[in-house]
Amino acid sequence: MTWEEPARPRAHTRSRLDPGEDTVIRLWLETPDLANVDTYLKTISSEEAGRATRIRAEADRLKWLASRSLVRRVAAQLGLVLPDEVPRLCPACGLRTHGPPYLGAGLHVSVARRRSLVGVSVCTQPVGLDIEAIGAAIPFSRAVFSEQELGQLPDASPENAVWAWSAKEAVGKLTGFGLREARMIRVPLRGSEQWSEAVAATGAPGVVRRVTVSSPHIVTLAAPEPANVRLEDWSTDFASGS
Ligand SMILES: CC(C)(COP(=O)(O)OP(=O)(O)OC[C@H]1O[C@@H](n2cnc3c(N)ncnc32)[C@H](O)[C@@H]1OP(=O)(O)O)[C@@H](O)C(=O)NCCC(=O)NCCS
Ligand SMILES: [Zn+2]
Repeated sequence: MTWEEPARPRAHTRSRLDPGEDTVIRLWLETPDLANVDTYLKTISSEEAGRATRIRAEADRLKWLASRSLVRRVAAQLGLVLPDEVPRLCPACGLRTHGPPYLGAGLHVSVARRRSLVGVSVCTQPVGLDIEAIGAAIPFSRAVFSEQELGQLPDASPENAVWAWSAKEAVGKLTGFGLREARMIRVPLRGSEQWSEAVAATGAPGVVRRVTVSSPHIVTLAAPEPANVRLEDWSTDFASGS
């Protein structure tokens, strides 16, 4: 019989792409619905209701109302009371005049809206959220994609092309620079339900992942580090009109 070295317990190694145990990104998604306009109007401020009347296309007005209302309902669910005009905080320049809503309480927020789906994500770390329809027509734009990516995109599936766009937009929302420096943001060219490395134009590393949803959308989160993602279901709150 040959002697076998007993198996040594493996040192606890945590790869950089394992989710942080204590960091949770909470994500609320909602389909804008004309039937819920009363709830939207009840939950937004009069200033927001006034701005909504100036949005001409009904579908655009509806998604705007739904997303503004969602931010306020999420804040209420977190026990926060927002003023009439929600403060902003730009992650890129720190100005309070633009950027995503600022809820205080050490929370970072990201908002995304498409006509068929709006979303709000909240985390104790910076976060970027983007939503695209799976069948969206992505412009192969030099402002967004690098030469190398433009060479690869024709071979990518239409869905992966939308993913690449969405990942850039999510990283852009994480940094606050939006699509301004998108062509320098490096993202994986295939969407994955695992966190993958991305690099922002500012040189800051980040991670991106695609969140599985039941509707035909690409929902993308970007964060400085992997985190656990919790898809919130709050249809009950909605039904009760709160
Ligand atoms: C950020 C950006 C990609 C969003 O594109 P979009 O088509 O409006 O995206 P969506 O409709 O999905 O999301 C809109 C939400 O994005 C958020 N947002 C706007 N600017 C943002 C920024 N700089 N960073 C992060 N989130 C931002 C807002 O919450 C907004 O919703 P709200 O105004 O109701 O709160 C685009 O507006 C952009 O590239 N802006 C330029 C950013 C820039 O110049 N940054 C430098 C500032 S110093
Ligand atoms: Zn700014």
